[in-house]
Amino acid sequence: MVEAQDKTPVLTVDGPGGSGKGTVARITAARLGWHFLDSGALYRLLALAAEKRGLSLDEAAPLAGLAKGLDVRFQGGEDGSEPAVWLDDEDVTDAIRTEACGSSASRVAALPAVRQALLARQRDFRQPPGLVADGRDMGTVVFPDAPAKVFLDASPEERASRRHKQLKEKGMDASLRDLVLEIAERDARDRARSASPLKPADDAVVIDTTHMSIDAVVAKVVALLAGAGFQDRMGP
Ligand code: DC
Repeated sequence: MVEAQDKTPVLTVDGPGGSGKGTVARITAARLGWHFLDSGALYRLLALAAEKRGLSLDEAAPLAGLAKGLDVRFQGGEDGSEPAVWLDDEDVTDAIRTEACGSSASRVAALPAVRQALLARQRDFRQPPGLVADGRDMGTVVFPDAPAKVFLDASPEERASRRHKQLKEKGMDASLRDLVLEIAERDARDRARSASPLKPADDAVVIDTTHMSIDAVVAKVVALLAGAGFQDRMGP
């Protein structure tokens, strides 16, 4: 089983919030017919579950325990749309997408015990015919042996403006000025933490998406995969 899983190809898509990685990873997975892991959603779900239970966001042991038993379900999304997300049989698709939840996720994600507790759950997503894994440490820690890795980045202004657009589309209130500050704060925490900090893997291809459309980034990523010899593992 382990051997079969190890041979399953993984494309890791890492980068900061607003770099386009979530959308690009989802669409690429749908195009290839591969599975999709939104690892950020797991940290967001943990933060939400902790808040619902009145747990402090800084206490590693209870949070790690909660992370191990988290009852989560992703539903749909095979066509590249955003999957519905369930926590304890409650639909939390929108609840986990607020900036407040993202910021809480970044706090719990700084705790090494929490990251360790979520490791096996993330690796379980590696199933044939392949996996596209979206996050901060997919290429460096969770799937270091992935045969294809990209790291997407964009200017801070562009990232804040994309996040602003995304939240508005979901009908959520957001001020662009607040978002610039929140994104800067979250990035600084994600990059500076000692456990699995946000950084490109040594063997990742870094793509600056500031002036690129989603389609152009997806095309580039798919071309990279084809160049890495995965034509036979890709869908039609
Ligand atoms: O990608 P996202 O915005 O949904 O992630 C929310 C937070 O979760 C992010 O600020 C840092 C954390 N995270 C992480 O530490 N490692 C990952 N692989 C994914 C997310």
